[in-house]
Amino acid sequence: MQKVTLRRQRMSDAKRFYEILSSPRFIYFNRPTSLQDEITFLSLNKEKQRQNFEHSFTILLQGAIVGGCGVKIDQHRPFIGELGYFIDEQHWGRGIASEAIALLEPFTFERLELERLTIMTHTKNIASQRVAVKSGFSREGMLKKAIAIENKLHDAYLYAKIQQQRP
Ligand SMILES: CC(C)(COP(=O)(O)OP(=O)(O)OC[C@H]1O[C@@H](n2cnc3c(N)ncnc32)[C@H](O)[C@@H]1OP(=O)(O)O)[C@@H](O)C(=O)NCCC(=O)NCCS
Repeated sequence: MQKVTLRRQRMSDAKRFYEILSSPRFIYFNRPTSLQDEITFLSLNKEKQRQNFEHSFTILLQGAIVGGCGVKIDQHRPFIGELGYFIDEQHWGRGIASEAIALLEPFTFERLELERLTIMTHTKNIASQRVAVKSGFSREGMLKKAIAIENKLHDAYLYAKIQQQRP
C-alpha cells in the first residue's frame, strides 16, 4: 500500500522540486524559471509561515519527495485559505494529490482554525478539478481572469469546502 506523508519544506528540497516543476506538462501552474528561483521561494517559507501568510509542505511517497502542497491565507479574510498542490508527473493518477489534501486539511481547519478552504483551477485543468471534487470541494462558480500563469490572466473555477464542525 502506498504511504503518503507531509513534512515542512526544506531548503534541500530545491533541486528535486525544480526537477519536478520543470516538466513541460505543467501548463496550468506557475513554474520556477531557474533553480535559483526555487531556492528563493523556499528561503521565504519560514517568514511566510511566521506571518501566517503561507504554510508549505513537501509530499513524500514511501519517504521520497513526489510533490508539494500548501495553504495561502487570505490576508484580508484570515478565516479563508487557498490550497495549492503539485505532483511529479511520473506519479500522476495514483491518488497522491488527494491523499496529500486529506493530510493537509486537518492542519488548516484544526490548527489554523480556518473556516473556508478554496481551490482555484484553470478551467482546463481537469486533473486538479477532479482532485478538488474527490476531496469534497464544491464548485462555486467561474471567475474571469482570476489566475495569472506566466504573466497571462486566465479564467478559473472556484472550489470551496467549509468547516462543518464549528457553528
Ligand atoms: C493536479 C495534480 C496535482 C493531480 O495529482 P494526482 O496525484 O495525479 O491526483 P489524483 O491521482 O489524486 O487525482 C487525479 C484525478 O484526475 C483524473 N484525471 C487526470 N487527468 C484527467 C483528464 N485529462 N480527464 C479526466 N480525468 C483526469 C484522474 O483519473 C484522477 O481521478 P480518479 O481518481 O477519479 O481516476 C497533478 O496533475 C499536477 O501536479 N498537475 C500540475 C500542477 C497543477 O496543475 N496543480 C494544481 C493547480 S490548481
